[in-house]
Amino acid sequence: MSYQTVDSSRTPPVRIGLIGAGWMGAFHARSLAQRIPGATLAVIADPAVEAATKLAAELGVERVTAEAADLFADPEIDAVVIAGPIRFHAPLSIAAVRAGKHVFCEKPGSTTLEELGEVEAAVAEAGVHWQIGFNRRYAADFLAARRDLAAGTVGTPQLLRSLTRDPGTGSIPNAARVPQWTMFLETLIHDFDALNWMNPGAEPLTVHVLADALVEPSFKPAGFIDTAVATIRYSNGAIAVAEASFSALYGYDVRGETFGSAGMVQAGRPTETAARRYTAAGLGAETPRLNIELFADAYRDELADFAVHVAARRDGAESPDHGVPLTPGLADARRALAVARACIESVQSGAPADVVGSGVDAAQEGAQAVAGAVTP
Ligand SMILES: NC(=O)c1ccc[n+]([C@@H]2O[C@H](COP(=O)([O-])OP(=O)(O)OC[C@H]3O[C@@H](n4cnc5c(N)ncnc54)[C@H](O)[C@@H]3O)[C@@H](O)[C@H]2O)c1
Repeated sequence: MSYQTVDSSRTPPVRIGLIGAGWMGAFHARSLAQRIPGATLAVIADPAVEAATKLAAELGVERVTAEAADLFADPEIDAVVIAGPIRFHAPLSIAAVRAGKHVFCEKPGSTTLEELGEVEAAVAEAGVHWQIGFNRRYAADFLAARRDLAAGTVGTPQLLRSLTRDPGTGSIPNAARVPQWTMFLETLIHDFDALNWMNPGAEPLTVHVLADALVEPSFKPAGFIDTAVATIRYSNGAIAVAEASFSALYGYDVRGETFGSAGMVQAGRPTETAARRYTAAGLGAETPRLNIELFADAYRDELADFAVHVAARRDGAESPDHGVPLTPGLADARRALAVARACIESVQSGAPADVVGSGVDAAQEGAQAVAGAVTP
């Protein structure tokens, strides 16, 4: 036998700590541990340490902790993935970047624009990479549509549409525990980013929302919303519609569309596979049932992109160029959150609301205000 030696040296994987081992965190953990060669899942943190332990055992991760602070203090951790409840996003981001860690944060990144300003100030000071989990951008059909838009295929955008229908059974058993503005801060936030992204160069200016509890009407007096439609007016004149329901009996349904002066692009996969079933009853097909089915590859690819960005920072290399704006950062988080906050205002007043604080100027003002607040 005469084996030859090969130089197998390659960029070492970035070492990532996961914060939050719930539904989304567990999926991200599996991607990091099993599907992204550029990353290693080194530690899992969750105050529910038994959830972290179970996940770690499944994936062969050797360390868990109840304290996210342990990850921040660990010199062997390059970056963290934040997948805890949304009220902790901003404080966890700020603590992580102050410790020099790069951050991937699930959406929305913060619940208020003021708090997001504090994240922006901390990231600017630390000079780290901060990325938000707008996974829809990484879905092959959405990305193909965005490349068409960049190529001018659609001409000037005039009408846009984005929708999210979460899978359901026709009732929402945990309605009493769903925080009031989840519809805008956690669900439609994806649609707001998709619309902003698919209307390049335009800014959202005003919104008008109709919202209701059509699935669970008995929870409406408590402020619960399970169905909503938002119209958004953009600076280029385009008019967009975002709509969502928390209970689609046929599965998980996400679509996006930009219609313009020269044509239209559409994204969104109505069926799970290309197979069709023709019977005496007619034509049928399987539909995606869960977000982790429909977006399995997109969730992986957003984290793979994150790992490449972190490695580039570590190695002093160029950041990846995707040909179109892809990697969502703080400016994208701010723009989508500004639309979400305006939608909440529109629901409260029953009238149209201006989108305030969506731009870079507002971000800089926020950062200055925060700097002013912490400087003696
Ligand atoms: N991108 C998507 O399509 C998508 C889909 C679902 C959820 N999400 C987002 O993922 C995040 C988590 O949602 P989820 O559905 O996984 O929730 P979840 O309730 O299933 O999990 C949250 C986990 O965070 C843990 N936790 C609580 N406080 C914490 C803290 N201070 N630090 C660290 N961990 C803490 C909980 O113990 C729990 O294990 C949210 O931001 C949500 O909006 C994104």
